[in-house]
Amino acid sequence: MELTGKRIALGITGGIAAYKSAELVRLLIKQGASVQVAMTEAATHFITPTTFQALSGNRVFIDQWDTNVANSMAHINFSREADVLLVAPASANFLAKVANGIADDLLTTLTLARDCPLLVAPAMNRQMWSNPATQRNIATLLGDEVIVLGPASGEQACGEIGDGRMIEPEEILEELIAHFQPKLLKDKKVLITAGPTFEAIDPVRGVTNLSSGKMGFAIARAAHEAGAQVTLVCGPVSQPTPRGVKRIDVTSALEMHAEVMQRAATQDVFIGVAAVADYRPRIVSGQKTKKDGSPPPVVELVQNPDILAEVAALPEPPLCVGFAAETQNLAEYAEKKRRAKKIPLIVGNLIQDGFGGEENTLILFDDNGQQPLAPAPKLELARQLIARIATLLENPYAPH
Ligand code: C5P
Repeated sequence: MELTGKRIALGITGGIAAYKSAELVRLLIKQGASVQVAMTEAATHFITPTTFQALSGNRVFIDQWDTNVANSMAHINFSREADVLLVAPASANFLAKVANGIADDLLTTLTLARDCPLLVAPAMNRQMWSNPATQRNIATLLGDEVIVLGPASGEQACGEIGDGRMIEPEEILEELIAHFQPKLLKDKKVLITAGPTFEAIDPVRGVTNLSSGKMGFAIARAAHEAGAQVTLVCGPVSQPTPRGVKRIDVTSALEMHAEVMQRAATQDVFIGVAAVADYRPRIVSGQKTKKDGSPPPVVELVQNPDILAEVAALPEPPLCVGFAAETQNLAEYAEKKRRAKKIPLIVGNLIQDGFGGEENTLILFDDNGQQPLAPAPKLELARQLIARIATLLENPYAPH
């Protein structure tokens, strides 16, 4: 549960995306948050307050003049008691009012009276979104430190296609969870490799490995949550891209090498999580190899460049972090790799149950020796690793 104890004030404005907010409330509650909903009158034309009352377990506020509310100060208490005010969907009209400090209904009044961060998920027709007035309002809101989530691009309720769709409830949840993480790598540039590589033998066959990419993707998400600008170069995997992460898909080690070397010198941190193939076939057949009765073909291999070692050897390298996945002698092999590649930190993991699991057991090896991390879900371990990296950026010799 990622939002245990968090109090979310959820504002809902009038737009067809309001039906998705019911799912959002369910997701927030599932993650341990308490949710207090306020709707505009327009929102009640799209979905009823009863739905939100049932899902949140709390009464829903709509009317500014409701005399049933204790001391009639709903707008003050609502935001005072919240850790965050999230408005999803946020209509063009609502955003315009908030950008200009207008408070003419309960939701805009409590938004103006808030004492907590404001996150908005815009939802509107593409013409309304691209209208200079809306864009001016968004610029004002960003300047006022309002966090704007989306919008997404795609098919709209009116049948048009373009920017203005509300991002999906799962994406809003991911952004909200990120919001609560400490910004340990604010504005740092972090480059990560993940997944396996695929080394072609012919157009349909190749050499690869069982890396799922999950650990690398979890680290990319954790780095983004910590406020970093993240670029993820990944081999063939089927993981969803974490929000806010720039993803570059590659196939072979040589492609991964080229994409990494082109960017590495300008990064603050490089984390090599990919299980890069050490060797590739020397010759890639242009046609599918046939079984024609002659002796089995011999595939001659040549060594791939060591991406991590090359980045670490740059004149002014980023802080380099490697991974060592081993089936035995983890401490010995990991430390040997750390020295051979001349990197300050290597993360060891013993492959016991194969690749692809949701959990992992990691040991960090650096100049201070080793630090085991308790078995945990990959995202949790990724956050601990990011915290260690942030400390090493501040002070390369910081003890564990
Ligand atoms: O050399 P070895 O594969 O054992 O070391 C693993 C570490 O080195 C990982 O961090 C991996 O991403 C990185 N590596 C690399 N390029 C290679 C081989 C490994 O960046 N060709």
